[in-house]
Amino acid sequence: MKKSPVLLIVFIFNITLFSPILAIKAEAEVNQERSLAMEEIKSGSFVLPAFPYAEDALEPVISAKTLSFHYGKHHRGYVNKLNELVSGTELMGLGLEEVIEKTAAQPGKAGIFNNAAQVWNHNFYWNSLSPKGGGKPAGEIGKKIEADFGSYENFVQQFSEAGTAQFGSGWVWLVEDGGTLKIVKTANAENPVSQKNGKAILVLDVWEHAYYLDYQNRRSDHLKAVIDKLINWEFAEKNLNR
Ligand SMILES: [Fe+2]
Repeated sequence: MKKSPVLLIVFIFNITLFSPILAIKAEAEVNQERSLAMEEIKSGSFVLPAFPYAEDALEPVISAKTLSFHYGKHHRGYVNKLNELVSGTELMGLGLEEVIEKTAAQPGKAGIFNNAAQVWNHNFYWNSLSPKGGGKPAGEIGKKIEADFGSYENFVQQFSEAGTAQFGSGWVWLVEDGGTLKIVKTANAENPVSQKNGKAILVLDVWEHAYYLDYQNRRSDHLKAVIDKLINWEFAEKNLNR
């Protein structure tokens, strides 16, 4: 069918007229999102770090949906709540570890401690995972794992068992204490900064929000898959040498 020249002219006119308007609108929306992000940063001292990989990068072990909630709701929530709670107090302007140390084991400051420690723990947790992680480590950390646990297989068994055995919410850590690698568990928001139980090398989150959408109550299966596919041994090596 032959197109009407009038219709063609109207079509070209509309494209010419509205394309720049649509482009300006899209740019305005992006700028508004940016300014909202900046408002969030300006409202307090503590900032939600950029996510170190794409939200679907850890699939199929950890789904994009789990990561989206875990980072976008839980981690962001701890950062926002911490900023709200320290605002106007003597803790404003201090570093995260200083806030944790000054509020640990003080019932009157439990709210600030819990949110500060959870921000620190999640910052450390995202870096403990990698889309290219998992498997038997090489380098210095590989040698230390063999020396201190007898074998990599022993380490995997002990690490996953410790995480599974942690009653309720908490964390399972690989720490270096007095030159030896050890596995320790902490409840709720506690961590090696508050417990003074070694230098953190790696951590896995065993709160239900870390795995429930993907594994329901099968925490052990989640931990085994994470250790096998996602542990960031390069991060562990850096922590060993820091
Ligand atoms: Fe978490």
